Formats: sequence, structure tokens, C-alpha cells
Amino acid sequence: MRLRKKPWIKEAIKEYEDVLAANPQGGKWNDVFGRVAPLYVELGTGKGRFITALAARHPEINFVGIEAQLDVLYYAAQKAHEQRLSNVRLLHFDVNNILEIFSPGEVDRVFINFCDPWPKKRHAKRRLTNRWFLDKYRVILAEGGELYFKTDNERLFEASLNEFADTGLGLRNISFDLHNSGYQDNIMTEYEAKFSALGMKIYRTEVIFAKSAEQ
Ligand SMILES: C[S@@+](CC[C@H](N)C(=O)[O-])C[C@H]1O[C@@H](n2cnc3c(N)ncnc32)[C@H](O)[C@@H]1O
Repeated sequence: MRLRKKPWIKEAIKEYEDVLAANPQGGKWNDVFGRVAPLYVELGTGKGRFITALAARHPEINFVGIEAQLDVLYYAAQKAHEQRLSNVRLLHFDVNNILEIFSPGEVDRVFINFCDPWPKKRHAKRRLTNRWFLDKYRVILAEGGELYFKTDNERLFEASLNEFADTGLGLRNISFDLHNSGYQDNIMTEYEAKFSALGMKIYRTEVIFAKSAEQ
């Protein structure tokens, strides 16, 4: 997601401090939220349409959204703040360093929605579904934890399914056309709305990080 630099955002985002997480440390997320609850994390949260709608639907769950671009995160923070979502915290952070902010087994579910496809083979390691990232998710996810993945990019989906299978992860509810699959619970992301309006199919799968699936 490329935006023109908006210098005012660095100041303006301070207005939404209630939904921003500052200097988080692994193992402390229940303290941040002030309660013990399952923890769901969205990687590359973008402008926040998905995480804010899901959090409004599930007040019993704590949600963390991670986004590398402040110019994009600003709009997610605005949504969470205006909807007074006390179960959402947003983080200006790079997923590459995810092991710094969650302790082993602290996360119950990870969402990756429409991540950058990095189509060139030499950039495969940058895909958020690459095995190099999967190894990190394996550490922070609880036993039986899950990764929910959606994309409009068929080749990324194919490559990702192979990464999941090659690293011994379990798969379920695979869909090659989510919007015509009868799946009821879908919440559209900004990218999903844009691409599906252009007639593109949406691919989705759930990945299970169970010990039994690793063998
Ligand atoms: C294609 S956009 C999709 C945004 C949103 N998930 C959606 O579906 O509308 C991918 C987002 O992931 C973010 N991103 C990519 N790599 C990241 C990383 N390593 N750490 C944090 N965010 C990242 C980008 O800045 C961008 O906002």
C-alpha cells in the first residue's frame, strides 16, 4: 500500500493514543488490555477495516494490529478510536521482529490479509507466508493456534499452500472463491473490497499449528 507521505500524521495520530500500543513486551498483553482474554493478531493491518469490524463483533477477544506504515496505521487508529474499541491495540511495527513483542504461546490466532505478494523468486523470503515467518508464528502461537489467510493473488495462494504443507502444518476450509463459497462470517478488508469489486476471486485458508499436524 503506497501513500504519499503525510508529515502531519506523526502529530495527528497522537490523538488516538488510547488504541496505540507503546513499547510492548512479550508476555505483557493481558496487562496492556487489563484483562485475561484470547489474543488475536493481524499482520499488515492496513487501514483497519477488518480488525475493527472483527473486534466489534468479538468484544470477548483482545486484538493487536501490526502495521509498518504509520501513514496507513493512522486510519486504523482513527476507526478503533471513533468506535471506542477497548479490545484493540495498534502497533507501528515490522513483522520481521515479531518475536520481540509476543512471548512463546501468547497468541491464539494470526490473520494475514492480502499481504504483499512479492512475486519474484528472489523476494520469496519477504512474503509473510514464507517458512521463515511461519517459524516465528510457530513460536508465538499457542498449541492448536491458527493462522487465517486471505489473498486475491492466485500465485501467492499456491506458493503459500505449499509452504504450509511443506512445513507440516494442517489446513482446513480452503476456498478458491471465498465470496461464492457460502462462508457466512467473512469481514472484508479494504483490499478485498477493492479487488472483489474488480471481479477478482478471493482465496482463503485456515492453517493449524497443532503438534499433531507437525509430524
Ligand atoms: C497490500 S496491504 C493490505 C492491507 C490490509 N490487510 C487489507 O487487506 O486491506 C499490505 C499491508 O501490509 C503492510 N506490511 C507489509 N509488510 C509488513 C511488515 N513486515 N510488517 C508490518 N506491516 C507490513 C503494508 O505496509 C501494507 O499496509
